[in-house]
Amino acid sequence: MQRYYFDHNATTPIADSVLELFSKYLKDCSGNASSIHYHGQQAKMLLEQARRQVAGLLTASPKEIVFTSGGTEADNLAIFGTMRGNTRRHAVTTTIEHPAVLNAFAQLEQEGFAVTYVPCDSQGTVPVHSIAQALRPDTGLVSVMHANNELGTVQDIAAMADVAHQAGALFHSDGVQAAGKIPIDVTASAVSSGAGLGVDLYAISGHKFHAPKGVGALYVRKGVTLQPLLFGGRHEQGRRAGTENVPALAAMGHAAEIAKKANMSSQLRDHLQRQLAVSIPDIRFNAVDAPRIPNTLNVCFEGIEGESMVISLDLKGFSVSSGAACSSGAVEPSHVLLAIGLTRAQAKASIRFSLGPANDMQQVDNLVEAVAASCAQLRRLSPTYA
Ligand SMILES: Cc1ncc(COP(=O)(O)O)c(C=O)c1O
Repeated sequence: MQRYYFDHNATTPIADSVLELFSKYLKDCSGNASSIHYHGQQAKMLLEQARRQVAGLLTASPKEIVFTSGGTEADNLAIFGTMRGNTRRHAVTTTIEHPAVLNAFAQLEQEGFAVTYVPCDSQGTVPVHSIAQALRPDTGLVSVMHANNELGTVQDIAAMADVAHQAGALFHSDGVQAAGKIPIDVTASAVSSGAGLGVDLYAISGHKFHAPKGVGALYVRKGVTLQPLLFGGRHEQGRRAGTENVPALAAMGHAAEIAKKANMSSQLRDHLQRQLAVSIPDIRFNAVDAPRIPNTLNVCFEGIEGESMVISLDLKGFSVSSGAACSSGAVEPSHVLLAIGLTRAQAKASIRFSLGPANDMQQVDNLVEAVAASCAQLRRLSPTYA
C-alpha cells in the first residue's frame, strides 16, 4: 500500500542530504569535541560549524547557542535555568503551550513559584494586553510559544517580549514549531531594523526540520545567565554538561542551513482546506483566521471521534494526528482545542493535518478523497451525528 505522511508537526523525515552527512559523521567523526588531539579537534570543528549554522537559522551569534537533547530540554533549561535561584518568584505563560513548557511550570509551582496561565481567544491568539495584565513586580520570566503545534497559530512575540522587558522580566519563546517554517530573527528590533523578536531565550528541535531526533538548541541572549539543569563537565560553556552528540548536531547544522534557505509556501495547505470545504458537510476549520505557520490545518468533523478517523485514515495509508492525548487509558481532548472554546465533543472530533516538502497536490487530493470516505463511514455509525 502507498503510504502518505501528513504529520510533520509530530516529526519530520530526515532530509536525504542530512542523512548522508549524518551517516558519514557517525562513521568518520569518532572524536570527543573536548579532546585536544586530532580526532577531538575534528569533532570540535564540526560542532562549531553546526553552532554557526543553527545561529544562522535564528539570526543569532554562535556563542548564544546552547546545544541540547531536543525541544523539551531546551524549554526546561530556559524555564528552570532562569527561575530557580531567581528572587522574582512569579512567571507568566499561556494555556496553549506544549507539555514541555506547561509541565515545567507545573513543577516550578511545586517548588513554590507562582505561575499565571494566560488564555487565548477563539482564534488561538494570545492578546498582548493579556500578557501585560498578567505581569507583576515580581515576574521573572514570560514564556509564550512562537507557533502552536496543534493549530499553527503564530503569536506576536516581539510585542510580548517588549512588555515583559518593560516589567523587568526575561522572555522565552518555544520556537519548536516555527523554526524551519517561518523566518526567525531572535534579535531585538533595534538591531534587526524592525523584523526581530527581541527574545532572551528561544528553543528549537532538530527533528521538526528534517534533522535527526534527540538534538535541539536553546538560544540564550548574550548577558542572560542560566543555572544548568545537568551537572557534570563544562560543556557548552558550562551551561549543559555532557559529551555532545557531534554527528547528530552536525546533521542538525546542515538541516538548519537548508531550512534557512527554504521558503515554505501555504499553497498546498490552502488547497487542502478548500477541497475539504467543498467535499465534506458539517466541518469547521479551527483557528484559521489568525496568522499561521504555512503547513498546518486543524479541522473539526462534527459527529466523529478523531481517534477513529486517525485509525480509519491509517488503514487507507494516510498518517495524520488528532490532538487528543491518552491519559490513564482514556482519550482526553486537546487542552489547546478546549482553550479556543471548542466543546469536549468538538475537540475530540478534530484532526490536525501538517504538511511537508514531500507532499504534493495529488497526495492532497487523495487525502481529501480518503477523509471524505472515512468521515461518511464514521458518521453513519455515529450515535450523535444527525
Ligand atoms: C511546540 C513544541 N514544543 C516542544 C516540543 C518538544 O520537542 P522535542 O520532541 O524535541 O523534545 C514539541 C514537540 O512536539 C513541540 O511541538
